[in-house]
Amino acid sequence: MVACRGAEIHGLTGFFAVLDSVGRSHVCSLRDFTGSVRISPVPGTCVIGLQWGDEAKGKLVDILTENHEIVVRYAGGSNAGHTVVSGGQTWKLSLIPSGILRDGVACVVTGGVVLDPASVIGEIDGLESRGVTVAGKLRISDRAHVVFPWHVAEDRLLNASVAGGEAIGTTGRGIGPCYRDKVGRALAIRLGDLYRADFRSKVEHIVGIKNRMLAAWQTADGGPEPLDAADIHARYAAHAERLRPFVTDTTAFLLDAVEAGSKLLFEGAQGAMLDIDHGTFPYVTSSNSSGLGVSSGSGVPGRWVNRVIGVVKAYSTRVGGGPLPTEQDNATGQRLRDRGNEYGTVTRRPRRCGWFDAVATRYTARLSGVDELAVMLLDVLGGFDAINICTAYEIDGRRVTQFPSHVDDLKRAVPVYETLPGWPDELTTVRDYAALPANARRYLDRIGELLGRPVSIVSVGPDRDQTIFIDRTGSAPCAKPKSRTPATT
Ligand code: GDP
Ligand code: IMO
Ligand code: MG
Repeated sequence: MVACRGAEIHGLTGFFAVLDSVGRSHVCSLRDFTGSVRISPVPGTCVIGLQWGDEAKGKLVDILTENHEIVVRYAGGSNAGHTVVSGGQTWKLSLIPSGILRDGVACVVTGGVVLDPASVIGEIDGLESRGVTVAGKLRISDRAHVVFPWHVAEDRLLNASVAGGEAIGTTGRGIGPCYRDKVGRALAIRLGDLYRADFRSKVEHIVGIKNRMLAAWQTADGGPEPLDAADIHARYAAHAERLRPFVTDTTAFLLDAVEAGSKLLFEGAQGAMLDIDHGTFPYVTSSNSSGLGVSSGSGVPGRWVNRVIGVVKAYSTRVGGGPLPTEQDNATGQRLRDRGNEYGTVTRRPRRCGWFDAVATRYTARLSGVDELAVMLLDVLGGFDAINICTAYEIDGRRVTQFPSHVDDLKRAVPVYETLPGWPDELTTVRDYAALPANARRYLDRIGELLGRPVSIVSVGPDRDQTIFIDRTGSAPCAKPKSRTPATT
């Protein structure tokens, strides 16, 4: 806490946002405001994937959890697969925040998430059976929309029926149809509804309509089996009982927490290129997976988020359909896939691989309001003689550096590459920026330059320890988190 004299003060209720002499924003609560102002840094950090997902957000969130009190998952659903590796153990998390592996941290799944109850129960059981405490740490929003079997059936049917041909290649987890029913309102059920007296009649009403809709999609090869309302109601009522201790009003919880000065870490899911509004539509997911989704998904206003970390892989990957301008559908792509073990966490599909795309990531870094960059899987690039970075696209003979807004234009984009020298060394044991080969440093610096943000974190292997923190300024944002014993290792 710092006494703040001569600061500019905004706001009249409960807390104040304060700008200090160098323009950094801080908050202080009304009860601190007694003569001299007592302030603490604004508490929110978020981790946003800047590519097409799987940027190793899970690893980063697990590490940063050490310096936070609450970890918040605010968008997506069981389409996400976040991996944490520690002490020879691998954890794959889908709906539960990656912060769950540490003691003394509250984990929150907010109303922006679409929740498959069986999936989250399976995750809770899996964690508890491996000695990770979930009870008392996890809170799930009663506002979260629930994924039902009709959403999964519709996802499978619609994925193969995209206007324009190429399948989106969804994860098949019912994500799009559940978000669609949320926006449509009439056929939506939120988690809080499962505890109300009219839950059964809601299921019966919706199943009647969904069965007629699904029947209309029948083809010569058949189609989905009709839904059984009684069976679905019984199963979801049982799930609801199992989840009862976790279900709460997370919006109220988080607003109280930020106003009390708790430090929050927001765990992005998917990547900004998959954002429903700003990504490579229609080859996207159904939520705002860029930094723009943090507030609406969590219920925490943007004024409480003061550090945005953009996460990128040192190259590009994409799983599913849609353009990937720098894709290497050749031996280079296969080498990246082999070295990076690039197979989908959720569906095990081989990920499409290619060179780093600075046009796409500069766009998503700006869109997400990124302050600093974490470059992950740098070790995968070891052994390449030369490494390409895409710095522009050529579309119909015109060179562009602005990311195209229409996917058809992106499909015609030919990458313009800058070639940098590679390095022969394995990086997996390096722990200091200075100890990286000069060409690896040059590569990182060039990414930072092209994206207009400093690289503050570098990952050279899946394990928690295989991480380099770059402190260029001596200031806190780049500092290594203080050590705290993990709960599980
Ligand atoms: P997320 O969805 O963004 O959390 O990422 P995923 O977990 O789906 O995919 C990232 C994969 O890369 C996981 O298998 C991680 O264990 C692995 N990984 C994370 N960081 C590194 C790294 O620096 N090097 C290597 N080789 N693998 C890493
Ligand atoms: P994490 O959080 C990578 C992709 C799917 C598909 C598209 C739409 O692990 O980074 P959906 O099932 O969401 O309707 O599928 O989005 N996709 C992901 N790709 N990582 C993810 O999550 C993804 N979540 C969805 O492959 O192309
Ligand atoms: Mg993933």
